[in-house]
Amino acid sequence: IQNQQDENKLKGKKVLITAGPTRETVDPVRFFSNRSSGKMGFALAEVAHRWGAEVTLIAGPVVIDPPSGINYVSVTTAQEMYEAVMNHKNDQDIIIKAAAVADYRPKQTHEHKMKKHEGNLVVEMERTNDILKELGEQKQQEYLVGFAAETKDIEYYGNKKLEKKNLDAIVMNDVSSTSTGFQSDENEVIVLTKRGLKEAIPQSSKAKISERLFEIFIEEKQGEKS
Ligand code: CTP
Ligand code: CA
Repeated sequence: IQNQQDENKLKGKKVLITAGPTRETVDPVRFFSNRSSGKMGFALAEVAHRWGAEVTLIAGPVVIDPPSGINYVSVTTAQEMYEAVMNHKNDQDIIIKAAAVADYRPKQTHEHKMKKHEGNLVVEMERTNDILKELGEQKQQEYLVGFAAETKDIEYYGNKKLEKKNLDAIVMNDVSSTSTGFQSDENEVIVLTKRGLKEAIPQSSKAKISERLFEIFIEEKQGEKS
């Protein structure tokens, strides 16, 4: 009975989720990336789908299989993720940016494989677009959620990002922990919301964490209207 109720919690809603790392090309065989596995974003997509939402999942290069029954968009670079998000952002009810987007990309990408030389190599990097910040600037009716991976002063940075990017909620995880966070099937997070909620979700599967997160988002979004 619980399951049947759950299946309708996001019925008729549109949910956009980004997941995984991005990859920034240096030359045909090399790139800069990060340790994101995409598991958290995929777990969120799976729950949203199970609860009846129309789900779009935009993901960087990951090794896990996307949940079936959703609209899956595969991207590589931060720029590609930016374009995909901007193409899909309209009419969404909830947007969750769980992706670990590169902050910098090599200023120059080499057409041919780079050769080594004597001495050090300096790769000049330039900033990528901050996708979430731009979503915050253009925010309409949708409930906008960011993720923040921090290794110290988690709450301080979380609150700063919540405000600076005009978010409804930010989910913070401590990536310095090895049993949770990147790569892991489990996570432990702290959620801060614009409406003043602060909730620590204790360590559990990324699926269970996703369920609790959606409960919070749905409740706050409903509260907005009344
Ligand atoms: N983000 C994004 N586009 C970027 C960088 C980050 O959309 N170019 C999003 C992430 O998807 C995440 C949130 O911003 O939801 C926070 O990412 P994080 O790396 O923790 O914060 P930054 O704002 O990049 O700040 P810093 O890395 O300096 O801590
Ligand atoms: Ca960053």
